[in-house]
This record gives sequence, C-alpha cells and structure tokens, in this order.
Amino acid sequence: MSDASPAPLAGKLALVTGASRGIGLAVAELLLAAGAHVVRLARSLVDGTANGRTDLRCDVTDPAAVERAVGRVLTDLGVPDIVVNNAGIFFIKPVAETTPDEFARTIALNLMAPFLVTRALVPHLVRRGAGHLVTIGSISDHVAFTGSTAYAASKFGLRGMHEVLRAELARTGVRTTIVSPGPVDTPIWDPIDPDARPGFTKRSAMLQAGDVAEAVLFAVTRAPRVDVTEVRLLPTVYTLRG
Ligand SMILES: NC(=O)c1ccc[n+]([C@@H]2O[C@H](COP(=O)([O-])OP(=O)(O)OC[C@H]3O[C@@H](n4cnc5c(N)ncnc54)[C@H](OP(=O)(O)O)[C@@H]3O)[C@@H](O)[C@H]2O)c1
Repeated sequence: MSDASPAPLAGKLALVTGASRGIGLAVAELLLAAGAHVVRLARSLVDGTANGRTDLRCDVTDPAAVERAVGRVLTDLGVPDIVVNNAGIFFIKPVAETTPDEFARTIALNLMAPFLVTRALVPHLVRRGAGHLVTIGSISDHVAFTGSTAYAASKFGLRGMHEVLRAELARTGVRTTIVSPGPVDTPIWDPIDPDARPGFTKRSAMLQAGDVAEAVLFAVTRAPRVDVTEVRLLPTVYTLRG
C-alpha cells in the first residue's frame, strides 16, 4: 500500500534545485506540505533554515559551489531521500542566431548541473540503499521544436542521462523518475511572451507549476516496489508549434 496519510513525507529530507520560483518553488512547497524538510538551492536565495526549509544560495553550474552545498546538506541535515534536479533555462532562437555562449550556458545549467548534483549524492543514496532522483525534463526531451537546438540538446541529453542512471541504479534501492511537461505558466516564458506570438500555447491554457509538483509528489510517494520511470504532462488545449 502507498502511504495515504496527510504527511506521507514526514521525516524525509528533499533537495530541490532552482526552487526560488516557478516549478521548483511549487515542488518545494508541495513536498514541504507533505511533511518533508526541504532544501532549496538557487542563486537568489539567502542562506538560512526556518519552518522546515533550508535555503542555500548556490549556482548549480559551478562544480565547487555544488560540492560545498551538498557537503553542507550532508553534514547539517543528512542524506536526502528525494533529489529534484529542476533548475533550467529556455529560449527560442534559430540555430544560426544562437551564440556559442547561449548554447554552452544552456548545456551547463540544464544538463551539467543535474550531473554535478547527482554524482555528488548518488554514492550516499546507494550506501543507504534508498532514495529517489527526480529529473524535470520537458516535452523537448522527446519532441523537436524549431528554435530549440540548445534546449532540445540539453533535454534530450538529460533524458539519456536519466536512462543511464536508471540502469546503473537498478537493484540499489534508489529510484529514478523523469517528469516531462509541456508548457507551464512560469516566469521562464516572460521574455518570450507567448500570448503575443501566433502558434504558441496561451499562458492561460498552459499547465500550472503545481500540476508538475503533483506529478513529482505522486512519483515519490509510491510504495517502494513501484518505479514511476517517467511522467509526461501536456495541457489539454495545446498548440504543437512548428
Ligand atoms: N515552464 C515551462 O514551460 C517548462 C516546461 C517543461 C519543462 N520546464 C523545465 O522546468 C524547469 C523549471 O522551469 P521554470 O519554468 O520553473 O523556470 P523559471 O521560473 O525560470 O525558474 C528557474 C529556476 O532555476 C533557477 N536557476 C537558474 N539558473 C540557476 C543556476 N545557475 N543555479 C541555480 N539555480 C538556477 C532560478 O533561480 P535563481 O534565478 O534564483 O537562480 C529559478 O528558481 C526547467 O528545467 C525547465 O526546463 C519548464
């Protein structure tokens, strides 16, 4: 039986990257409401602990900063039960207009940062014989959209990494889930302004950050025998732009 109590994550420790706003914030708040102590990592957070939350200012593209943040979590709070690699960036530009710096920054945040966080924590999760790695992918981890060379490269790569992790962690007790949403109404869309662009899903029709958070909560609260390997979410009214 899965735990149907109001606090199914009581006593659990969760770590969420990119949790200062958008999907990461919604995930952090829902895991907190489910009883977990939640560590939030983002560049704009101020270090501190209160009311079941520990905030750590961290640029997750910086290997030394990730080592430091993970070290503090392990020392002060213990080994996380749930790790949500969420921090990400997104832009739309044809390949010839995408600068090498934009491409590299997208890969650094969307792909290398989850690698850095995962490699630092996996040995601890495996030693304990339990834990859950959740990756926030995207519809762009399996569908090609024009203007998405950098984003699709990072998210298809992330899906690849998720599949390899699932193979490496089989029979260790550590579970892995990739959650791949279509458009979600978060600040990530502000520079793009989809409501003003023909062919884009309107913000009012998009998924809400809380919808993605509920998928994460579902995955991490299944009975230990259940591996939710992936969850794909789309808005009901959805424009598949070319
Ligand atoms: N919104 C969508 O339509 C959608 C759809 C599918 C998948 N996703 C994925 O969902 C994830 C979250 O997206 P979102 O829409 O919630 O974006 P968002 O609202 O722009 O939030 C991005 C988060 O990432 C953090 N972040 C950015 N750079 C960082 C860095 N170097 N180090 C640490 N944290 C960093 C930001 O915090 P700071 O600025 O404080 O660092 C912020 O908390 C991303 O992986 C995105 O690809 C989004």
